[in-house]
Amino acid sequence: MSARPRANDAPTGIATIDPRDLVLVAPDPLCAEVPPAALAARLTNPGSFFVRSHFDVPRLDAGTHRIEVAGAVARSLTLSVADLRRLGLVRVDATLECAGNGRAGLTPPVPGEPWGFGAVSTARWTGVPLARVLERASLLSSAVDILIEGADVGQPADASGTLHFARALPCAQAIAPETLLALEMNGAPLAPLHGAPVRLVVPGWYGMASVKWVERIVAPPESYRGYFHSRRYVYQTPEPGPSAPVQRMRVKSMITSPSDRSALPRGPVVVRGWAWSGAGPVTRVEVAIGDGSWQDAHLLPQPEPHAWRGFELEWEATPGRHGLRARATDASGTVQPDNAEPNRLGYGNNAIRTLTVEVH
Ligand code: MTE
Repeated sequence: MSARPRANDAPTGIATIDPRDLVLVAPDPLCAEVPPAALAARLTNPGSFFVRSHFDVPRLDAGTHRIEVAGAVARSLTLSVADLRRLGLVRVDATLECAGNGRAGLTPPVPGEPWGFGAVSTARWTGVPLARVLERASLLSSAVDILIEGADVGQPADASGTLHFARALPCAQAIAPETLLALEMNGAPLAPLHGAPVRLVVPGWYGMASVKWVERIVAPPESYRGYFHSRRYVYQTPEPGPSAPVQRMRVKSMITSPSDRSALPRGPVVVRGWAWSGAGPVTRVEVAIGDGSWQDAHLLPQPEPHAWRGFELEWEATPGRHGLRARATDASGTVQPDNAEPNRLGYGNNAIRTLTVEVH
């Protein structure tokens, strides 16, 4: 058993996370990637799940924390965690990917946290469908967006004052059955770093939609255009015109074994990985070795539509240096591209990646 002090000690019963078990991207506020070895598991251990926080972690007490529900509702509410539980819990396995994942691989470099390829993880989330809370508050038909505000506060360098992390969801996505106010991750209460005691999980959307440390749910009078919708999480291109919002995860795949720059003995090797898309289930993954043609990989069953799908391809490895590539296709027919669509902050980089292995 490890005697190391825990960096975010939490009350008994809450999963604790040691940032030293993650791949550090920025120390404060913590941004860290899942370590490559943890990517073999379908459900990522909470201690290895990537972390992306914009501000300091707020310390909230699950016993006294309250969530306010207000705005275009017939009945405003103040809910405790126990009230939420009484609305009935459901479970959803969902992959979360940070919109900046893979940014460090872009040329020319772009501003923002230099994420490699590990800002993606999958967990089993247990919580209350947001729809049940909105139903209880009798959401008015005039509502367009649902604004979810976190308890964390800070002042980004390019903002004029302090602000909370907050994101709005179109009503149709807010009431979708898979959109959860999650209380548990892989069967344990959420860790503080992942939003304890309650966070939103929006399966299929890039991670910024999944607001942690939820303290307010508001149906604003008009469409919300706050800092995290206008200065961040928009695809800004050099062409004039409105920027498109970052929303659903683009189709993508990731080879997890063998790992990049590894050495292998010649002979049979299984190339494995995960593929996901916010636009529908992954229907095909192809793998190419070196300059060889694309070959269809075997797709593992996908019992959970919002979680990544496993793929495997058997390869008879021959001595030399080889490039390994994977490309996914989703149910909408979209194929993972060779190059990412450029945008100022490098969001949504789903370009095919080449891993290199040395076979002896
Ligand atoms: N929620 C709050 N309140 N504050 C944040 O900084 N970061 C968002 C989202 N929810 C954030 C937040 C982003 S950009 C991502 S990618 C996910 O949380 C990361 O969730 P995780 O840290 O549990 O992996």
